Amino acid sequence: MKLKVITSNPGKVREYQDSFSHLGIEMEHLHLPYDEVQTSDLEEVVTKGMEEIRKKGVRDFIIDDSGLFIDDLKGFPGVWSAYAQKTIGNKGILKLMDGVGNRSARFKCCIGCDINGETIMVTGVCEGSIMDAEHGNGGFGYDPIFTYDGKLSFAEMPTEEKNKFSHRGNAVRLLIDEMKKRNIV
Ligand code: IMP
Repeated sequence: MKLKVITSNPGKVREYQDSFSHLGIEMEHLHLPYDEVQTSDLEEVVTKGMEEIRKKGVRDFIIDDSGLFIDDLKGFPGVWSAYAQKTIGNKGILKLMDGVGNRSARFKCCIGCDINGETIMVTGVCEGSIMDAEHGNGGFGYDPIFTYDGKLSFAEMPTEEKNKFSHRGNAVRLLIDEMKKRNIV
């Protein structure tokens, strides 16, 4: 079985490949831009994105919308994570966190999967905190400044290790459970 991963981010494709290989599901990277509606809700972005992609006749695909939610910044960057990453970047986030005592944060990932004519939507969360500086060269996006265990950043872990604890890894496990319930895998 093949699933298209619709994203401009090769890092996400690597993570999906790693998570699905044991089920014999092959991931195919597809660049197909779709509108990300302005809303405070990851699920709504994914629902609208799936509608738009289906209208283009594409089937059997995965999209995800993710964000980093920092408690002391009242959930910022949250649904604006892509914009904040492009503009102020990790250094800008670290600056905003200067002198902040409570550094707790969480990543969320909402996956929408179109498979065999069915829609499955799941959301995974990973609790953690913002580090004092950037650490590591792996991963992508906010990985160098996020730690789930207070020791290593996600950018310091191999993909396989990040997937064990990450928001996307947790969402994938929920997705696979749903696929099993529906006898898809
Ligand atoms: P989107 O889901 O591609 O819209 O992601 C929003 C922003 O969050 C982008 O800047 C991504 O680089 C970042 N992001 C999404 N997932 C992750 C992750 O697993 N680690 C680090 N940054 C992420």
